[in-house]
Amino acid sequence: MTTSLIPTLPGHFYTDPAVFAQEQSRIFETMWFCAVRAADLPTPGSFKSVQVGRESVLIVRGRDGELRAFLNICRHRGAKLCTEESGQVKRAFQCPYHAWTYGLDGRLVAAPNLTRMPDLDRVEYGLVPVRLREWIGYAWVCLADEPPSFEDDVMGAVTERLGALTAIDSYRIDTLRVGRRITYDVRANWKLIVENFMECYHCATIHPELTEVLPEFADGYAAQYYVGHGAEFGTGIEGFTVDGSAGLGRLPGVTDGQDRRYYAVTIKPQVFVNLVPDHIILHRMYPVAADRTVVECDWLYSEEVVASGRDVSRSVELFHRVNVQDFDACERCQPAMGSRAYARGGVLVPSEHHIGAFHDWVVARLGTP
Ligand code: FES
Ligand code: FE
Repeated sequence: MTTSLIPTLPGHFYTDPAVFAQEQSRIFETMWFCAVRAADLPTPGSFKSVQVGRESVLIVRGRDGELRAFLNICRHRGAKLCTEESGQVKRAFQCPYHAWTYGLDGRLVAAPNLTRMPDLDRVEYGLVPVRLREWIGYAWVCLADEPPSFEDDVMGAVTERLGALTAIDSYRIDTLRVGRRITYDVRANWKLIVENFMECYHCATIHPELTEVLPEFADGYAAQYYVGHGAEFGTGIEGFTVDGSAGLGRLPGVTDGQDRRYYAVTIKPQVFVNLVPDHIILHRMYPVAADRTVVECDWLYSEEVVASGRDVSRSVELFHRVNVQDFDACERCQPAMGSRAYARGGVLVPSEHHIGAFHDWVVARLGTP
């Protein structure tokens, strides 16, 4: 019997801690991971600690204004150096255990009795550096000894989807400011969230407000289906808002071809970028466990819009509803992943075929279990 249906991954891929551990080591600890919005660390000494795979990574702005990343581990006896998620230090991090002290550049600058240990190399016993790249206003880190090409992996995902990197450059995302940030604690595996974002088969069922603004979504073909295609706003829709009322005014670099259109890009493994003429919605996923993912979602507007205090609530409300609708759907599927009904998985319809490609990618990255 032939069928146009494609099998999904079996259920245990979404529940098994061993699979999750393998994903941490072979996906999140080897690829570029979008960690923080650079502007969240405004001044020298501003820091954030972020969980990347099984490691805690400390990201800090140096005295020279550059962002740097380090493993958040004291080189003496291994205490977690910085226990706060974010904050500000004056000029150094001091370990709470025996007071080894590290500069913002990671060098060991002081330790009790250090003068009696002249052979202690301050760089060698400095914090372990982690690779960091800044792009579109975010700091991306990579734990791999030999990181994959940022151009191929991260920027390449944008080129693959939009056809050219210039298509994202025109939004000048690095110059935008966070107008709203909402953090969602989703009781679902990170792959369910990626899969959901990749398809629009569900749009007509669960996203009434979104399909009102983007009527072509009612057909179930996602904006990610064709290279370079953006879903067009419906007639009478003035802006990408919850009620189709006017938005905040087109961003200066956005082209005529990009106006009145919505583009969505998935940058594996944990970033979604949504482009509309007057703002950007950017999701970062932080996988916590096989059945839990924290999603931080930023709504980015022009400096002018944020500084003026203009009301962005109708604009935020549209994608906030979409997020809640999507995450509810993912949470509805998560418990079923452990059911005997899903032991061999489910199926994908033809309009979801690119999810099959995502599954192949996951399996290839994990190798033989
Ligand atoms: Fe940090 Fe000893 S473990 S100073
Ligand atoms: Fe959705």
